[in-house]
Amino acid sequence: MTTETPAPAVELHGARLAYGDRTLWSGLDLEVAPGEFVAVLGPNGSGKTSLLKMLLGQVPLTAGTAHIAGSPVRLGNPNVGYIPQQKSMDEGLPLRGRDLVGLGVDGHRWGTGLRNRRSRNAVVDAAITEVGAQSYADAPVGSLSGGEQQRLRVAQALVGDPRVLLCDEPLLSLDLANQHRVSDLINRRRVGHGTAVLFVTHEINPILPLVDRVLYLVDGRFRIGTAAEVMTSEVLSELYQTDVEVLHVRGRLVVVGTGDAIDALGGAGELRTDCAHHEDHA
Ligand SMILES: Nc1ncnc2c1ncn2[C@@H]1O[C@H](COP(=O)(O)OP(=O)(O)OP(=O)(O)O)[C@@H](O)[C@H]1O
Ligand SMILES: [Mg+2]
Repeated sequence: MTTETPAPAVELHGARLAYGDRTLWSGLDLEVAPGEFVAVLGPNGSGKTSLLKMLLGQVPLTAGTAHIAGSPVRLGNPNVGYIPQQKSMDEGLPLRGRDLVGLGVDGHRWGTGLRNRRSRNAVVDAAITEVGAQSYADAPVGSLSGGEQQRLRVAQALVGDPRVLLCDEPLLSLDLANQHRVSDLINRRRVGHGTAVLFVTHEINPILPLVDRVLYLVDGRFRIGTAAEVMTSEVLSELYQTDVEVLHVRGRLVVVGTGDAIDALGGAGELRTDCAHHEDHA
């Protein structure tokens, strides 16, 4: 018997993650549909990166279950693409851009012996072209700008055509043009291939037009819903257990009063020039 509906891209039931006696979150139920874009928000230390690492099979759940495309989470799952929290690469790193992208292919296929190098190279070339990195694919990655490196990381995460793309603050330290470019690339893959996206960020405004749902984690509490449902003064005040105000300023959300870095969701952003740039995303 076949079913019409594909398995959820990500499925969590009663998920709990603790380090020692410190619980980051528990009772987390979440089904992410193929092609769905979920923004994961929350202050520093709320367990966003840990959630991605659990889905990568690097950190075990303390309780509950987690599935990717119908199978239990496991290390090296080719159905999962990952863009890690950005670190600039060592200038002396003896790695070219295309080697970095190639790791996204080979990483899942150790032990299969000599594979067809031509088709592997074609897959890598296609990913490099998709992110527009042809002109610097053969340069040492350490010599590239942050935006160029990030586009290669996106190519590496996408080269295996994963069902789920896990992105950990992928726009951090990118200028506006590159924020656009990177979020467009991710969104195009989501629309074209039905890839589900979990997107950790402290800055929701640049991706607001793409977001289907928000998972907002604060100190063990969480809310899941559309941005309109979650990004309200009432919900955030409850999550932060203090008066938080969500303002709507020229199509952007400005969050005031969380007392931590999440103010960067809008408060600090107002000082930057990133307003009204996401209209052309659609
Ligand atoms: N392997 C580990 N062992 C013990 N504690 C850990 C481990 N990994 C992370 N933690 C702790 O768990 C908490 C959540 O970490 P995590 O990296 O998931 O936060 P985050 O929400 O991604 O924060 P940020 O916004 O700063 O990136 C932190 O307090 C961190 O110190
Ligand atoms: Mg993190």
